[in-house]
Amino acid sequence: MKPVIDILEERISTAMRKVTSLNAPAIIQPTKDPTFGDYQVNGVMPLAKKAQTNPRGLAELIIKVLKINDICEEPEIAGPGFINLRLKNDFLSNALLEINADTENHLGISKVDNKQTIVVDFSSPNIAKQMHVGHLRSTIIGDCICRILEFLGHTVIRQNHIGDWGTQFGMLIEYRFLEKTAEGMEKTFGKKPDDAPKVMESTEQLYREAKKKYDSDPDFAESSRKRVVALQNGRDVERKYWEEIVELSRNEIYPIYEKLNVNLTKEDERGESSYNDKLPSVISVLSVANLLEESDGAKCVFPEGFKNKEGEPLPLIVQKSDGAFLYATTDLAAIRYRVNELKADKIIYVTDARQDLHFKMVFEVAKEAGWKKDTELSHVTFGTVLGEDGKPFKTRSGETVRLKELLDEAVDRAKVVVNEKNPELTDDEKEQIAQAVGIGAVKYADYSNNRTSDYVFSFDKMLAMDGNTAPYMQYAYARIKSIERKAESKDVNIETELKGIKYLDLTEPAELDLAKHLIRYGEIIESAAVDYRPNYLTSYLFELAQKFSAFYTNCPVLKAEPAKRPTRLLLCRLTKKTIKHGLEELLGINVVKQM
Ligand code: ARG
Repeated sequence: MKPVIDILEERISTAMRKVTSLNAPAIIQPTKDPTFGDYQVNGVMPLAKKAQTNPRGLAELIIKVLKINDICEEPEIAGPGFINLRLKNDFLSNALLEINADTENHLGISKVDNKQTIVVDFSSPNIAKQMHVGHLRSTIIGDCICRILEFLGHTVIRQNHIGDWGTQFGMLIEYRFLEKTAEGMEKTFGKKPDDAPKVMESTEQLYREAKKKYDSDPDFAESSRKRVVALQNGRDVERKYWEEIVELSRNEIYPIYEKLNVNLTKEDERGESSYNDKLPSVISVLSVANLLEESDGAKCVFPEGFKNKEGEPLPLIVQKSDGAFLYATTDLAAIRYRVNELKADKIIYVTDARQDLHFKMVFEVAKEAGWKKDTELSHVTFGTVLGEDGKPFKTRSGETVRLKELLDEAVDRAKVVVNEKNPELTDDEKEQIAQAVGIGAVKYADYSNNRTSDYVFSFDKMLAMDGNTAPYMQYAYARIKSIERKAESKDVNIETELKGIKYLDLTEPAELDLAKHLIRYGEIIESAAVDYRPNYLTSYLFELAQKFSAFYTNCPVLKAEPAKRPTRLLLCRLTKKTIKHGLEELLGINVVKQM
């Protein structure tokens, strides 16, 4: 089934065209106040202006030709020319039965008609260092975007554009060499291999030690620079150490993806290094296209429309005077690959807002060079994670917060709560719940904030049992589970009751309110996909849980009279399914059976 809002949009804009011969959007919005119906048509006034006619009169004509009585009660005109629509109970009942009948875990929601190939570039950490809190947002927002687009039927190609190339690898390779070879060890530590210090086990450590040495030892710095050149020229030794370092960082990255329940695998990796041999041709093609200019020995493109503070044209540097290529060069090569080889209809980049100018310029250059073709390029940005002091989130000693430690702490804190609430559970159960709640809390808090704003990271808030949090949503799910368990003990056979159901007997305001919210799930997913905003989903799910609460308080379920019970059991079932689907399938947050 298509979202009802889309069906209404179609029907009404058709009626508008019939009456005026003009094409105009119906502009349908869900109403805030149910006394005015469920949906409001806002497009009549602007249309009346275009047609130079009276809006109320126009609304009346539109209603006359409108065919909508399979969905709505008699439309009502309100104010200067709004049309209010109220869904029929029959329609609602059928829609809910259709959702329930869907065995594909698609909740009756149709896939898109225009299926696209969409490349999503996300996570993309720089692997010489450990992942820190700054990578959280790109990783999980990107993952959610992929999940939503896949759900809607698009072909999604995930691209982890990891920073695995560049001058910093010179010092890492040099340090690795010194650590690992007898010759190197003597040179560095003045010791024989046996009593030399242990080889650095994490990229973070390796980076820190190498950097210390680089800053203090000119000989080391010089050898590091030579390593960069040799690496770029493809010499075996450097290549070997480089591979080792990349592998070392994989051991750190993938466990984090797994913990976060993010779908990124080695197959999705296409790091900066993979574009190396394509970079010279980026330069030569730009040159042939007459887009290249030299400025202080560097090769630049001056894309149309970009100026610095002084009003002078702003360059995108693509090759430094020493011949080195840059971040932008790689991004241009990546666009060519994604457009030509991956056949992307759309490429989405998920990074923080500070890269805004970079992508704007890269997109413009790709357009001017003819590489963009018909592919749509979008930069999806996000704000910064702040500490409770309102400044970028740091540890007490002022260092960046490592993602692994942050997630471990979330799980530890969740464990404390679980222990308090459910001391009788087994250790395994406690561990499983703590994982779901701890990681879920971190992800959900991020998702529930407006993507483009900064937000304050607070364990206390995100782990709270009330409010728009993961634990609240997980609790709402567990509660419905427990209702179902209770049914069993009361000899109510839910499956049999639901099987026989042909019609939903919706009479109570709380039932109707919940039912109308349930059928809006597809509409919300669609708008979250258009704006790339996971917070639409979290808001929807939170409202769903609240409406369920109101329903459950006002309408007895297991003790309902037999004629009414199937309807209410079905509302419970669909709420449960929707929460589970939203959390697990679209947000990648696990639900739990009990809490
Ligand atoms: N590695 C970059 C960073 O950590 C992000 C890369 C984003 N993707 C891209 N195609 N430039 O800032």
